[in-house]
Amino acid sequence: MVKIGILGVGTVGQSVANILESNADILEARAGKKIIAKSGVVKNLSKKRDVTITLSDNPLDVIDDPEIDIVVELMGGVEEPYELVKRALKNGKAVVTANKALLAYHRYELQELAGDLPLMYEASTAGGIPIIGALRNGLAANHIESIQGIMNGTCNYMLSKMINEGAKYDEILKEAQDLGYAEADPTFDVGGFDAAHKLLILSSIAYGIDAKPEDIVIEGIDKITQTDVAFAKEFGYEIKLLGIAKRADNGVELRVHATMIPQESMIAKVDGVMNAVSVVGDRVGETMFYGPGAGGDATASAVIADIVDIVRGNQGPMLGYKKGLESGLKLLSKDEITTHYYLRMEVDDESGVLSKVSGILDKSGISIESMLQKPHTDDERVKLLFTTHECKEAQITEAIDALKVEPCVYGEVVMMRIEK
Ligand code: HSE
Repeated sequence: MVKIGILGVGTVGQSVANILESNADILEARAGKKIIAKSGVVKNLSKKRDVTITLSDNPLDVIDDPEIDIVVELMGGVEEPYELVKRALKNGKAVVTANKALLAYHRYELQELAGDLPLMYEASTAGGIPIIGALRNGLAANHIESIQGIMNGTCNYMLSKMINEGAKYDEILKEAQDLGYAEADPTFDVGGFDAAHKLLILSSIAYGIDAKPEDIVIEGIDKITQTDVAFAKEFGYEIKLLGIAKRADNGVELRVHATMIPQESMIAKVDGVMNAVSVVGDRVGETMFYGPGAGGDATASAVIADIVDIVRGNQGPMLGYKKGLESGLKLLSKDEITTHYYLRMEVDDESGVLSKVSGILDKSGISIESMLQKPHTDDERVKLLFTTHECKEAQITEAIDALKVEPCVYGEVVMMRIEK
């Protein structure tokens, strides 16, 4: 028999305890041993929980309990769970965590500390989608060329509603919170940080990149306007908040931002709170993973998959390798990002303006792919919109800086990255 202790018995923790009980037969058959949820730890003991396990408000009641074999960490936060997970490992216990922030900061130290003890984290990224197992095991034969995904259900829900129904940002954020998908502090969602934590975890498995959130490009959905949504459609694109890891000749791009993607691509069709991740391997080609990225039972499903794997003895290093994965592959700087771009600006409706603007793009070595000019009916200005051929972010930044000080250009020059 294997006994489980749960740190954090909120929505996911209650689902884990209940599924372990209600699906006990099938779990015993699959794992080869009986699995019992023994105890849990909560901050507030007076709050009612829908579980039959013993509850305590002292984490050490689980971590130092010699009967507990596997500690499930579902607390959230970074430093407190880090200390508790370290102590659990020191006590010789296997650990399952759903904590993406913990892993975004401490995954390499934890892998070192865990050594041969299992430390698993399927639920940390894209909730119920088995993307960690897919990258660690299913795609192990491949060099990973790219990972692109909708990794935050709250943002995708908000964008779908804003784009399809013209819904207002604040109202739609409230709806996402009511659905129970948003983080306690929703700036983690709308600012792109939640997706970035997940991207960092995936990029460690795929490329061995040891980066922290501060090291990569993270932009949220707060600057997207209906104007750009409408123009994206005219150019044949949808706008999604994507986590992107892309291998180039000299390194790996890691970035989270609102992205224009072709309307006919599979990811463009993923609406609402669902997550979807596309992984391209050099041998398998494109693989696509779709499913619920959050929610009690969906996330618990991933937690329990890890428990079953541990009980079966399917271990191996936490990140899927010990040393030497893709040695020499480095994180590329923001300037080195290479992609297509969308630019929008407002300019004087006069002769010579278009050639001035295109001259600035040309000076930075940017080749225009398509262009649209939209006249205003009420003044003497027009909107100019461009999509570009591939170029480096440094070129776009240089051109935007030059456009901003050009007297015929008014206000902000809006830029969005395009992935094809
Ligand atoms: N806040 C996250 C989301 C929950 O909206 O996807 C799962 O990490």
